[in-house]
Amino acid sequence: MRILAANWKMNPETVDEALRLASRIDTLLKDLPLVKLLFPPYVYIPLLKLENLTLGAQDVFYEPKGAFTGEISPTMLRDLGVGWVIVGHSERRNVIGEVDEVLRKKAEASLRYGLNVVYCVGERLEERERGEHFSVVERQLSFVPRDERVVIAYEPVWAIGTGRNATPEQIEEMHAFIKDRVGLKVLYGGSVKEKNAGELAAVEGVDGFLVGGASLRPEEFYRIGVALSR
Ligand code: PGA
Repeated sequence: MRILAANWKMNPETVDEALRLASRIDTLLKDLPLVKLLFPPYVYIPLLKLENLTLGAQDVFYEPKGAFTGEISPTMLRDLGVGWVIVGHSERRNVIGEVDEVLRKKAEASLRYGLNVVYCVGERLEERERGEHFSVVERQLSFVPRDERVVIAYEPVWAIGTGRNATPEQIEEMHAFIKDRVGLKVLYGGSVKEKNAGELAAVEGVDGFLVGGASLRPEEFYRIGVALSR
């Protein structure tokens, strides 16, 4: 089954709004034949009761407990019913400064403690312009555990939150490249909207979407899911 994942990032700002959004999404997506995942901020995780979506976390630490101020462990997440984590989102790589070695540890710890992983890869604009996108992604993939509980999300940095999605040709060739290297499922992420969802869902090698901005708009997110399940 294809995967539809909502990455809320650091949104919304209140519990009330998070509860409202989650329940609307849970109701709307009920009958879509997809694996449906919701990645809210950590603090909302214990408050959200979902019947049709599986909860995920946007990040995770690589130790189960201990003196790691500010971090959240894979075992804590498991205890709250979380099934998935995102590792290596480009905002964590580029804004927070996470490096590949740390991401490998996070992915390995997640698997060890029973979590599935969405592992994000993708090149920056200047890397694509220099023709380095395949080598950048290949390097990122070399840190990914080869385990079928890992799903790759290809998210070109220049397409995230910019309204500028990658073209079907760019997606098809990169997904084929990734599958050839790691043999895992590959989601596309980067400005997936209802207006481009049909075209992107038809691309060979797209096993699902990781959706940011549009996942905060339940009706639009639902219509993206409809396009993906056709
Ligand atoms: P976007 O974000 O859909 O807002 O571009 C995607 C992501 O960062 O996962």
